[in-house]
Parts: sequence; structure tokens; C-alpha cells
Amino acid sequence: MTNQQSVSPQHAPVTVIGLGPMGLALAGTLWDHGHPTTVWNRTPEKANSLVAKGAHRAGTVAEAVSASPVTIMCLKDYETMYEVFDSAGDALNGRLLVNLNSGTPKEAHAAVSWATERGASYLDGAIMVPPPLVGHPESVFLYSGSQDVFDEHRATLASMGDPRYLGSEPGLAVLYNTALLEMMYATMNGYLHATAMVGSAGVSAVEFAELAVDWFMPAVLGPMLAQEAPDLDKGNYPGDLGTLEMNLNALEHITRTSEEQGVHTDQPRLMQEIASRAIADGHGGKNYLAVFEVFKKATLKATQAP
Ligand SMILES: NC(=O)c1ccc[n+]([C@@H]2O[C@H](COP(=O)([O-])OP(=O)(O)OC[C@H]3O[C@@H](n4cnc5c(N)ncnc54)[C@H](OP(=O)(O)O)[C@@H]3O)[C@@H](O)[C@H]2O)c1
Repeated sequence: MTNQQSVSPQHAPVTVIGLGPMGLALAGTLWDHGHPTTVWNRTPEKANSLVAKGAHRAGTVAEAVSASPVTIMCLKDYETMYEVFDSAGDALNGRLLVNLNSGTPKEAHAAVSWATERGASYLDGAIMVPPPLVGHPESVFLYSGSQDVFDEHRATLASMGDPRYLGSEPGLAVLYNTALLEMMYATMNGYLHATAMVGSAGVSAVEFAELAVDWFMPAVLGPMLAQEAPDLDKGNYPGDLGTLEMNLNALEHITRTSEEQGVHTDQPRLMQEIASRAIADGHGGKNYLAVFEVFKKATLKATQAP
């Protein structure tokens, strides 16, 4: 392995645990930025493209964590993190764990105690962009926890995007993440439901997007939805960059965060129910826009009603 004493922070070795669509993007970007990159995933074959580039596939979690001073985890949730790191034993001692899993502020607090007991430093974080935007200097990543730890590793974190430090309270990154995602899902649902409404009169998603995006949509989401409008018309929702199952997981965390924080839960719960229904209808492996199928069906029922 690379001599960690002699490398600049911009090229420090990094380990990535979890190679779903997002973990693959993080590891690929870190490698492209010159970080010797070690990876581990429950399904080891998902590392094949990274290994072909030159990344190292560790055989065990302990080996993966021991390979680098910094381990970035991008797993389904905090429960999965405990399950995965259970086997790591003493390997966590003296390492930094950066948690980019989805979760709630309470879970972030518990994770700090868990890491401390194992002698590891810990930063909690959240990724505010989809996988293709990882590595762009303006792509926002949120972090909370020890400022000293954040400052020490800022250069490594900056290889993935724009690292924003929110404060020493460890739950802040997750709290901001769930709040911002709620805005995103509510906007997406409003757009998809509106598209289903005009669709009931035979208006295509492409036609509606031409007007709706200019009229209302925020700068980031608007162009993306306009680009995806032809897929709405075709019912084509490829899930290769993130699945509805993954989004339901995020929606559950928004509801649970609202509960934990003592604010109203009806709004996120409704979005969670709609996503669950789309999954029950067989769309779990597709992308989030597949909730459009739920809205369209309800429209059909309404127009068929006497
Ligand atoms: N994709 C996005 O657009 C996006 C955007 C922002 C944030 N995020 C966040 O990034 C994280 C990862 O998302 P993702 O889209 O890459 O996919 P994901 O489906 O949420 O997570 C997949 C990862 O978790 C692992 N995993 C799940 N259950 C496991 C278990 N019981 N034991 C061991 N490993 C397990 C998977 O391993 P296997 O490969 O073996 O199944 C895979 O590495 C999530 O917390 C998500 O909220 C995603």
C-alpha cells in the first residue's frame, strides 16, 4: 500500500465501503483525483469496474479500513453500517469514519458514541447531488461533527465536491439533508401530479414541461425534469443511478427525523405512502419518477368514475 506519510492530503489513500450507484461514483471520483482507493462491498463483483481502473478490492472490511486513514461509507442506512463494521474488530482504532449513509439525527448521535468506543474519529455527512454530479467542485456535501477532524481532512473531502461544514452538533448534516430532500420530493411530486392531471386531457409530459419548467421550476430541478419528460411519456424509468427503494429509504428518514424533531409528519408520510405504493406495484428497482405511474392510475380511476 502507498506510504501514507509521504502523500499530500490531495492524494491521501481513501477506503470506500458500499458500492451502490452512489458508492461507485464516490470511489471512481476519488481514484480519478489521485487517491489510492481501496473498496469493499457485500457483493464484491460491483467493484469490477473500479478494480479494472486500478482500485484495490479488499477481501474483508477490516482489511479495507486498515488500508487508509479515512474510510468513507456509503451504505443503505445506519443499521447496515453496524452490520457491516461488526466484523472489523480493532481495525477501526485510530481511523476516521465518514458516514454518508441516509439516516436521522438520533442515529448520527448514536454513531458518534459507537465510533468513539472503537477508537475511531467520526464525521457525519450527506450527499446533495445524484451520482453523475459527484466530483464536480460545486456539488454540495454536508458535514457535521468535530471541526478539527473536518479541517484536517478537508482536502480529501473536497475531491468529491464542495464540503460544507455545518457545526459540531453531529446530527446537523442529516437534519439539513432530510429537510432539503423533503423540499425536493415535494416539488417532484407536485410536478408529477400536475403532469398526470394535464395528461388526463391528452397533454404529453414533454408538452407540459415546456410551459411548467419555465413558469415555476427551480434552476437545478427544472432542466433535469425537462430532460426526463420524454421518459415520463414512454413510462421509462431506469434505476441504474438510484432506485425507488433507495428513495423510499430516504423518505422514511424524513418522516422519522420529523418525529424526532417534534414537527408534523403528515407531509413526508404521504410521500412515503405514495412511494411505497409504486414499489408495491413493482417499480422498486426503477428511479423515483416511477411514482408517476401511481398518479396516472389514480387519474384513470377518476376519469372512469361515473
Ligand atoms: N443514488 C443517489 O442518487 C443518492 C443520492 C444522495 C445520497 N444517496 C445515499 O447514498 C447511500 C447509498 O445509495 P445508493 O444509491 O448507492 O444505493 P443503496 O441501495 O441505498 O445502497 C446500496 C449499498 O448498501 C449495501 N447494503 C444494503 N444492505 C446491506 C446489508 N445488509 N449488508 C451489507 N451491505 C448492504 C449494498 O450492498 P450490495 O451492493 O451488496 O447490495 C450497497 O453497497 C444511501 O444512503 C442513499 O440515501 C444516494
